[in-house]
Amino acid sequence: MLEEFEKFLQTHIIKTKSFHPFYNEAYEKMLNAGGKRFRPLLLLNVVKICNPLLINASFHAALALEMIHTYSLIHDDLPCMDDAPFRRATPTLHVTYGEAAAVLMGDALNTDAFLILMNSPLDAKTKVRLCEILSFNAGSGGMALGQAIDCHFENQPLDESELEFLHIHKTARLIAAALQMGSVITGSELEEKLYSFGLELGLLFQIQDDIIDAVKSKEEAGKPTRNDTNKNSFVNLLGLTNALLKRDAKVKELKAKAETFEALGGYFQKILDTNFK
Ligand code: IPE
Ligand code: IPE
Ligand code: MG
Ligand code: MG
Ligand code: MG
Repeated sequence: MLEEFEKFLQTHIIKTKSFHPFYNEAYEKMLNAGGKRFRPLLLLNVVKICNPLLINASFHAALALEMIHTYSLIHDDLPCMDDAPFRRATPTLHVTYGEAAAVLMGDALNTDAFLILMNSPLDAKTKVRLCEILSFNAGSGGMALGQAIDCHFENQPLDESELEFLHIHKTARLIAAALQMGSVITGSELEEKLYSFGLELGLLFQIQDDIIDAVKSKEEAGKPTRNDTNKNSFVNLLGLTNALLKRDAKVKELKAKAETFEALGGYFQKILDTNFK
């Protein structure tokens, strides 16, 4: 599925004609730099398992999700946020092309995600629902809120429930949206249940991301590590040992929940086995 997604991405990246010297290059650089493609693969695998006939029509939605995620990373790395010089093992856009270009490429990817989604061959009603889900979870009540809290409360320790609120918004909402979008495409009855499972999976994903910052090298992570010193992270709040224990308990809890998903259960077990070590 990853290979098919990469192929789709390569053939559907928007190319713009202009006399700007590096516009297209900057626009596609972070998309081309790879990454785990965790969110699009969630969406695509839900579709593949629930209704494989709809898989070809789902790639646009998967790409839209990855474009929103990629824009959020470009902005997250800016000097006014995490000030990170590289990402996905490549220099960040503001380092290569300047801050204005990085802000604008993020803006363009954010907006173009909805253009790609609207160009998908899915029926109009489904596309409207997908658009609503993606915008809700990325926008002012979703990822952007999480990022705003993350930035505002640097150097001001939050308590555990506030930190969960932060992580649920900045990371889990988009991951939950991936599962929900897959479910909406297939008309599955599991929409709400998948969304709640996605929120928990997303919280676990950010706990793991906080652990990666503390334990991995920048080469392994493909991004700067030991960068969360002033941040509200699970490692800073609980200490590394307790953050690891919390992660392992969450994996166990979600593995039990995965079993209740029947056809999707095996896929969720695999994700839980491979991403959180
Ligand atoms: C990093 O996301 C930012 C978070 C929300 C934790 P990923 O870990 O999915 O980054 P890529 O897409 O693999 O580069
Ligand atoms: C960022 O969280 C989450 C986004 C919404 C982009 P982090 O700041 O922890 O992500 P990394 O560690 O830089 O990938
Ligand atoms: Mg950040
Ligand atoms: Mg960051
Ligand atoms: Mg991080």
